[in-house]
Amino acid sequence: MADTDERLHATAAARNGEAILQVLKAVHQPGLRILEIASGPGQHGALFAQAMPDIIWQASDPDPRMRASEQAWGEGLENMPAPLDLDVLKPQWWKAVENPVDMMLCVNMIHCAPKTAIEGLLAGAGRLLEPGSALMLYGPFTFNGMHSVDSNKNFDRMLRQQNAEWGVRDLNDIADAGQKHAMVYERFVEMPSNNHILVLRRQGTLQETTPI
Ligand SMILES: C[S@@+](CC[C@H](N)C(=O)[O-])C[C@H]1O[C@@H](n2cnc3c(N)ncnc32)[C@H](O)[C@@H]1O
Repeated sequence: MADTDERLHATAAARNGEAILQVLKAVHQPGLRILEIASGPGQHGALFAQAMPDIIWQASDPDPRMRASEQAWGEGLENMPAPLDLDVLKPQWWKAVENPVDMMLCVNMIHCAPKTAIEGLLAGAGRLLEPGSALMLYGPFTFNGMHSVDSNKNFDRMLRQQNAEWGVRDLNDIADAGQKHAMVYERFVEMPSNNHILVLRRQGTLQETTPI
């Protein structure tokens, strides 16, 4: 470990990491190359890379402080390469990803970003993933505009007070954006504390003319 420990700690990541790991283990295959969008502190990546040493965990975040933390969490883990600077709001952000990607994970990002981050994320997933490969999206979601519990409703209100562009996103908006980029909503997995993992899978042919 370096003299200065740049590892940041997120309470949520410490709480939900094990449950997400179980979902990943169920789809685990040796050699899988997973791109994580919005890795934040990088705790998740370190946990998953350690638990599945035969996969490659590629962390990323647009915030340099987060990338420094991801780097520090990944120290000594050969299957956790240097984090990438990826911002899904930037046009054609996926072009900065040089290595092949077999799966993508994004935890607790789209409600902490403008709504356009949904389409930015899915546009990139549609370009980076091969047909049959999946994007897993973890967080609280609304279903047909309804919160599953009051605590999610309160969380949504708090987010919107913090930043008018933030807010819990609806499955329909995600599925609609996915359709435009050959990322088809497949199913959800119920997670602890009223969170879900949405699975979107890359289908067929992507129309390169799809506007983003
Ligand atoms: C609530 S944190 C979640 C971090 C991590 N996934 C976790 O669960 O611990 C949200 C993260 O999203 C990142 N983020 C915000 N806007 C983004 C964007 N447009 N593209 C990619 N990441 C973004 C932030 O920098 C931050 O690290």
